[in-house]
Amino acid sequence: MASLPEQIGELRFRFMQELQEVSGSKDLETLKVKYLGKKGPLQSLMQELRHCLPEERPHSGKLINDLKEELVSHFEHSAARLKTQEQDRQFQKEWLDATLPGRRQFRGALHPITQVIHRIIDIFTEMGFSVRLGPDIDTDFFNFEGLNFPPDHPARDMQDTFYLSNHSILRTHTSNVQVHAMQECKPPLRIIAPGRCFRNEDISARSHVFFHQVEVLYIDKNVTFADLFATMDEFLSKLLGEKAETRFRPSYFPFVEPGLEVDVRCISCKGSGCRICKHSGWLEVFGAGMVHPNVLRKGNIDPEEYSGFAAGLGIERLTMLMRDIRDIRLFTENDIRFLEQFP
Ligand code: PHE
Repeated sequence: MASLPEQIGELRFRFMQELQEVSGSKDLETLKVKYLGKKGPLQSLMQELRHCLPEERPHSGKLINDLKEELVSHFEHSAARLKTQEQDRQFQKEWLDATLPGRRQFRGALHPITQVIHRIIDIFTEMGFSVRLGPDIDTDFFNFEGLNFPPDHPARDMQDTFYLSNHSILRTHTSNVQVHAMQECKPPLRIIAPGRCFRNEDISARSHVFFHQVEVLYIDKNVTFADLFATMDEFLSKLLGEKAETRFRPSYFPFVEPGLEVDVRCISCKGSGCRICKHSGWLEVFGAGMVHPNVLRKGNIDPEEYSGFAAGLGIERLTMLMRDIRDIRLFTENDIRFLEQFP
């Protein structure tokens, strides 16, 4: 059996080898417990002292203590070294350049069409109107028959209307809400109905198969053409500003009598004529008129007692006018460079 000093030498040698293999503080801690723990080799060497010759004991005891001190100091140094190494590694991983300029936060915004609808809702609710929504998918009755369209009216033609089945269609205008509202509520009625509409038309810079309207309906006793004119004129100057030039001209819709269309001076060419306004200098923004007695009757309202006016605002047209947008297709293309311009 090797002498005690030899065993101590061997132990030091083994320890130095194992220490070299340690790569992290956790391993180091394990090594420390292994060597300096109560059941460790140093402790067993201490036990062995008992079997030594008495004259060798002090010397061997000193050797063991020296080794123990040496190990302790190795552990301390290695622990400090590993800690800095580990911190350095962590700092590298979390490195951050505090001098970099901040990143711009991307903020979403409402679609320009939605923004204009919200503005229109604000203006009409201030005047005492309330918002009412109707279905995008509806029946021929609400979209046509209830609105006094004769059975052979060309607007019912497959060319304009998307038929889902014989009974249901995609509404071609928000006027279907007029009929729903009249059937469901007793007058006085003062509502606006924003929503999507669909028509089977060729897509161009001016027209689309998918667009938005806001319907306006006012029914009460003694509502006259003067109310229509005053309300819609007030609305237009609130929406477009006092300076916007508007023009009311007679027109025909089966559900109003008399009917009219309202144009606004083309913003794009200031009236001199361009592609947007088809060289007329004017852009049609809505249809309106006094509710036809037949429509009141279909809505269970007595035309002898009540009268009313209705209007249907074309939201894409209005938005194009207000924001100087030259192509209706931009609204549905979702190009972020376009949408970003309307924060
Ligand atoms: N619904 C008509 C259209 O889509 C507009 C309109 C609404 C006209 C109400 C008169 C009254 O063209």
